[in-house]
Amino acid sequence: MSASHPAPTQASPMNVIGRPHPRVDGALKVTGAARYAGDHYLPGMLYAVPVGATIAKGSITAIDAGVAEQMPGVRAILRRGSFPPLGRAELDMSSADTTAILDEFRPPFDDDVVRYYGQYVALAVADSFEQAKAAADAVRVTYAAETPDVDPALVAEAMTVKSERGDAEAGFASAAVTIDQRYAMAPETHNPIETHATVAVWEGDALTLHETTQGVINHRNVVAKMLGVPAERVRVISRFLGSGFGNKLWPWTHSPLAAAAARTLGRPVKLVLSRAMTFRNVGHRPRIEQRIRLGATAEGKLTSVQHDYVNATSILDSYEENCGEATPHMYSTPNLRVTAGIARRNIGTPTSMRGPGAVPGLYALESGMDELAVALGMDPVELRLRNEPAIDEGLGVPFSSRHFQECLRVGTERFGWSRRDPRVGAMTRDGLTLGWGVAACSWIAERFASNAAVDLREDGTARVACAIQDIGTGTYTVMAQMVAERLGLPTDRIEVALGDTRLPAGPVSGGSMATASLVAPIHEAVAKAGAALIAAACAAKDGPFSGSRPEELDFVEGKITAKTGNRQAMGFDTVLKALGMPAISGSGSGTGTFMAPGKPTVSKHSFGAHFVEVTWQPETARLRVARTVSVIDAGRILNPLAARNQIEGSVVMGVGMALFEETHYDARNGAPVNASLADYVVATHADAPAMDVHFLEYPDTSLNALGARGVGEIGLAGTAAAITNAVYHATGVRVRELPLKLEHLMT
Ligand code: MOS
Repeated sequence: MSASHPAPTQASPMNVIGRPHPRVDGALKVTGAARYAGDHYLPGMLYAVPVGATIAKGSITAIDAGVAEQMPGVRAILRRGSFPPLGRAELDMSSADTTAILDEFRPPFDDDVVRYYGQYVALAVADSFEQAKAAADAVRVTYAAETPDVDPALVAEAMTVKSERGDAEAGFASAAVTIDQRYAMAPETHNPIETHATVAVWEGDALTLHETTQGVINHRNVVAKMLGVPAERVRVISRFLGSGFGNKLWPWTHSPLAAAAARTLGRPVKLVLSRAMTFRNVGHRPRIEQRIRLGATAEGKLTSVQHDYVNATSILDSYEENCGEATPHMYSTPNLRVTAGIARRNIGTPTSMRGPGAVPGLYALESGMDELAVALGMDPVELRLRNEPAIDEGLGVPFSSRHFQECLRVGTERFGWSRRDPRVGAMTRDGLTLGWGVAACSWIAERFASNAAVDLREDGTARVACAIQDIGTGTYTVMAQMVAERLGLPTDRIEVALGDTRLPAGPVSGGSMATASLVAPIHEAVAKAGAALIAAACAAKDGPFSGSRPEELDFVEGKITAKTGNRQAMGFDTVLKALGMPAISGSGSGTGTFMAPGKPTVSKHSFGAHFVEVTWQPETARLRVARTVSVIDAGRILNPLAARNQIEGSVVMGVGMALFEETHYDARNGAPVNASLADYVVATHADAPAMDVHFLEYPDTSLNALGARGVGEIGLAGTAAAITNAVYHATGVRVRELPLKLEHLMT
């Protein structure tokens, strides 16, 4: 490639990387101009409302749709046998183009067996939503019901060793000080403001889905397999999402159902899930039980770490919550064992929820570390500082960039930790008891394979395109920043196209990997567009660079520049006009690191520390998370405003995890009983603490040229533990079951 890559430099006047840039799509969202999936209205469109099973275990004996079918506007009551059986998607994780992943493998209407409450048993389709809803309610389904198993007490079918070194039992047995505790977490349900929605329209044998998905390419591939059509005949569009938190990562059964209904009836079909269906049919973080055993010398040096965990999963799908992800690399210990198991319940299939695995895992590990510090009579920050590993002892390779000790040190200063009186209940302010707690966080730093294309246009604007999504985290903005920085332009001259399978294949927006995945393909696409422009300019009969040779020219900050001589420089817009070309394009691609075959040569993770102050008023049993300090080591921060938003949102979500969020399943029929935003309590603005977020900003170029890791999930890791650790400091009550309830504290 003849074009050079200018080093990212803070000095460049047009440099927008590292600046607190507001969302480029913000105005569209706040004015209501952004069209979400459910906002699409097509000529002749019908509305579909699923009929969900009202048992969680058993079988369907009859579906009586006689009344429903006669109701006004009703087009069909679809059920098993109404259309050819849907196919089964197989797992394929080979590239951004062909990935096909989902959690619930059973296609809808596959058999008459019911395995969870709300499982779709029929689909009412009518001219209006109200008619479809009324018809769905009028369908009479009879069942041979059995008693479902939604027991929260989990016993694993079998335990698998996930990581092991040394002799964990012996290290524990010979330790001077030990703790052995169990920690449980209630099932949490993702509640993005925008519920799942599909608008399916067929033109001949070509399908378009207006979707709300964190992965248009994967969604296309899965739905194409289920419908038995080539992936090239399916287009998935998802330009705006009202978030997802993981429950829009992989397709759920309503989407192929809507597409099958549209194909059967020959009309576009819209299917929008209700909030109640969100609790039944599109995943959740399952109930998790964990056991932590730690052994240490009297000086607080870990001699053994054991972490065992079991998560609930559905009857047919073996979802594993990878709670031990961070445990092997978090602290130095010669002896360690991590084991995992699953337990099947008559509940819908679980899925990834913000920080799957490490978030619940670090709740347990960081609670255990706090209990060990108490047992040792040692400051919990000091205990963590004493167990800093030199390398990732789980993988046996160096860290790409780890500054966890600095996170702790900076956090103690910003929080005022040195003023902490370690005695329980000893600190007070304005008649309130204060509790101060700390916990560590860690999250993977990886990237997915991705492609991107960049067009330079004669009007001095540019367009960047990738079939990636913006789930509300700022992907539109960071893509604009990346191109603006390379071209020396302000972001308002950059058009961003995403969320459409017709664009160059991109990855799912998940695992905090979107930004890191985009750097290489976007940089290469800009460079290729520049190289193509140089080639065209050199080849032109007459023009500013005719007669030059490509190797004499560079493409720097959007200008063709002579390497020597007068160093003549000319912007791409001027060159394009001189050449009579409306635009010139370049494309780029980047490889993935996530789950890549072979042993990694470095351990890539982000780190951080949360410090929490709770206030406790025993007279009124009033607990508040008052303030937090989060120090995050996530590489170079490309947009401090958007990044801080991510950590703040995570900390508020952590307040919900610690104190509020819990899905209750009725033991009689397996129904999630608090399936509404009135009854499922999430943290609100009123629950948000005063938050101080600080980034260390050590660029990690092992992942990409900009040195950026991800920030979408790490802020949730450790937060709940820091809160319950603070509650112990205030009250002396160690709560080991989330969410913490006031009755736990009224001793
Ligand atoms: Mo996130 S759970 O990877 O959407």
